[in-house]
Amino acid sequence: PSPALYQRCTETALYLRQALPQELHNPKIAIVCGSGLGGLVDAIDESPRIETAYANIPNFPVSTVQGHAGKMVFGTIGPAKTPVVLLVGRAHFYEGYTMEIVTFATRVCKLLGVEAILVTNAAGGLNPDYSVGDIVLLNDHLNLAGLVGINPLRGPNHGDFGVRFPPLSDAYDLEFRRLAHRAWKRLGLSDGGRRMYEGTYAFVAGPSYETRAECRMLRMLGADVVGMSSVPEIVVARHSGIRVLAFSLVTNKAVLESVVQGDDPQVQDMSPKELEEFLAQGRANHEEVLEAGKSAAADMLRLVKTILSDLYS
Ligand code: 6GU
Repeated sequence: PSPALYQRCTETALYLRQALPQELHNPKIAIVCGSGLGGLVDAIDESPRIETAYANIPNFPVSTVQGHAGKMVFGTIGPAKTPVVLLVGRAHFYEGYTMEIVTFATRVCKLLGVEAILVTNAAGGLNPDYSVGDIVLLNDHLNLAGLVGINPLRGPNHGDFGVRFPPLSDAYDLEFRRLAHRAWKRLGLSDGGRRMYEGTYAFVAGPSYETRAECRMLRMLGADVVGMSSVPEIVVARHSGIRVLAFSLVTNKAVLESVVQGDDPQVQDMSPKELEEFLAQGRANHEEVLEAGKSAAADMLRLVKTILSDLYS
């Protein structure tokens, strides 16, 4: 299977290249746009710009989630006209794709010459200090699916990309994180009430959201946010030596309190309507996740633009 994957990635990379003008052939950085963060496309120059729907790219999966219409956007950024590529929408493991498919685009980026990847996602906040709309600069992760065997690097090693046992202790690039903090301060983004923290992302397979007990478990394990993406891409990126910068947008607060008991006086005398309202508090849903993305997207855009212009000027 090892040469086959490399061959399929090469085929896709060659297909993309022949559709691109010379100046866009070697994107330096790939930007992965999470739920509701497709607006990051506005971070790049209007021209030259080439958009390709995932559906038209050979070997590419087509994402099925609402708010994830998939396309690749090639363009330039900053005074040096640095070539970049955006991945708008991603394939998730919970959709039924294999880990190989979930991480396919990351490997294609490597073959296109990408040296760094900026990953964004929507995540549930587990750290009680966090509010909806805060941004978490990831400095570590818990690959829960990976630890039990669902790791994108399982199977024969793809030696054309990297080594059998890649280290992940320094997966989240410290130089990039320093830049991110500087950009955040310079832009004065805290003045708007939004905060940026550094934290640990717990990757779960999904698609169901976590129970209260699961949220407490993840918190006890040291997670600050929880989500259903990014870690597979980040593991594969590190395998092939791509530097990683990753942000979670806190779109909802995961509930850490225990389930209320049926004989609790607080709920015993509630009407059915009161009971329904009580239960709806803190229940995660996809709509609120997309909504928080919309209002935070502008700040995220300014942050990403500033970091990129600091990196490539
Ligand atoms: Cl609360 N959990 C998970 N697994 N993913 C999320 C989320 C929660 N909120 C946004 N994405």
